[in-house]
Amino acid sequence: MRPELVLVLSLLQLVGAAFPDDSEPISISHGNYTKQYPAFVGHKPGRNNTQRHKLDIQLIMIMDRTLYIAARDHIYTVDTDTGHADEIFFSKKLTWKSRQADVDTCRMKGKHKDECHNFIKVLLQQNDDTLFVCGTNAFNPSCRTYTMDSLEAIGEEISGMARCPYDAKHANVALFANGKLYSATVTDFLAIDAVIYRSLGDSPTLRTVKHDSKWLKEPYFVQAVNYGDFIYFFFREIAMEYNTMGKVVFPRVARVCKNDRGGSPRVLEKQWTSFLKARLNCSIPGDSHFYFNILQAVTDVIRINGRDVVMATFSTPYNSIPGSAVCAYDMAEVANTFTGRFKEQKSPDSTWTPFPEDKVPKPRYMG
Ligand SMILES: *[C@@H]1O[C@H](CO)[C@@H](O)[C@H](O)[C@H]1NC(C)=O
Ligand SMILES: *[C@@H]1O[C@H](CO)[C@@H](O)[C@H](O)[C@H]1NC(C)=O
Ligand SMILES: *[C@@H]1O[C@H](CO)[C@@H](O)[C@H](O)[C@H]1NC(C)=O
Repeated sequence: MRPELVLVLSLLQLVGAAFPDDSEPISISHGNYTKQYPAFVGHKPGRNNTQRHKLDIQLIMIMDRTLYIAARDHIYTVDTDTGHADEIFFSKKLTWKSRQADVDTCRMKGKHKDECHNFIKVLLQQNDDTLFVCGTNAFNPSCRTYTMDSLEAIGEEISGMARCPYDAKHANVALFANGKLYSATVTDFLAIDAVIYRSLGDSPTLRTVKHDSKWLKEPYFVQAVNYGDFIYFFFREIAMEYNTMGKVVFPRVARVCKNDRGGSPRVLEKQWTSFLKARLNCSIPGDSHFYFNILQAVTDVIRINGRDVVMATFSTPYNSIPGSAVCAYDMAEVANTFTGRFKEQKSPDSTWTPFPEDKVPKPRYMG
C-alpha cells in the first residue's frame, strides 16, 4: 500500500556496528527542559508530600475532560479544566494492589519484587458509566469493572488472560466495539503465545491460531482501531516471508471482521475466519528503496482533507542507519489492500509467493 505522505524527520550518517541487545529510548529530553512544565508525580493537592514513590505510568487517556493516568497499583484522575502551576495534582485515586498470594507466587517464579506489582495495561470505557481495567497483577493478569465517577469496583473480577500481558514490558492493545473486547497481547507467562482475541459480549470467543508463525511471529502491538466492518491492528513482527534473510522486522496491519463467528468444528473452530494481514510500506522512493520498518506508534483514525487516515511513526532498526519518519495511510486504501492479491506459503519451510488470483475464494469473506 502506498503511503500518501512521507515526512522524513531525520536521517543521520551511518554509525558503527553496535548491536545493543535491548531497546533504548529514542529520545530523552534534559531535566532543564521538562522543568518548565508542570509535572505529575502522584500527589494530591494540599498534601505536603516530600516522599516520591515510583509511579511507573503505563498509559494515559482522556475521557469527558478528565485525564486518567494508569500506573503501578493505581489509577489517578486529573481534572483538565483546572490550571496547574508547578505541579499537577490528581483529584481521585483508585488503588488495586495484587494479593499477597499472587505476589508470593510471582516471587517464587523468579521475578524481581519490583515486577510483582499490578501494572495497569488496559483502561477502557466499557459503558456510559463504567471503566474496564486490566492489570498484570504480579504475573497473574486480571480484569475488573469500576464506576467512572467514584472509581468503585463493581461485579466480578475476571481473568486477564489474552486480555492483558503478564509482564508490564510487553506491548498490548485493546478496544471495545459493540460491547465486545478486542485485545492483542500474549496469553502466557513466558510470552510465547501471541494472540488477537475477542471476548465478552454475545459473540463466540475467537483467537488467532496458536503457535503459528504465519499468523503472528513475535508481534509488538501498537494500535487497534474500529473502522467500518472491521477491527484493524497495527503492529510490527518478524517477517516470515523473509525468513531466508535472517530476522527482518516488518510493520503490519491486520484486520478481523466484526461479524466473524469463527470456523466449524472441522476447521478454525473458535478461531478467526476473516484474519488477513498486510505489510505497511513507509519508504523513501529511489533507485534502491529505503524502508522504515520499526513501527512505533499509530494515531486513531483522523479526518484530513475529507479522508479518513491514520498517521504512523516509524524508526529504523538499531543496527541500521538511524532515521525516523511519519507516514499517513488512507483507511479506504488500507481496506482496499485486503481485497487485492495475496501471498501464500506452500509449506512451513518454503518462501512466500504470490497466490494465484483465480484461486482466491470468491466471494471473499468481507464481513
Ligand atoms: C513501497 O512503496 C513504494 C512507493 O510507492 C513502491 O515503489 C515500492 O515498490 C513499495 N514496496 C513494496 C514492498 O511494495
Ligand atoms: C541545567 O540547569 C542548571 C541550573 O540552572 C545549569 O547549571 C545547567 O548547566 C543546565 N544544564 C543544561 C544541559 O542546560
Ligand atoms: C511543606 O514542607 C516544607 C518543608 O517542611 C515547608 O517549608 C512548606 O511550607 C510545606 N508546605 C505546605 C503546603 O504545607
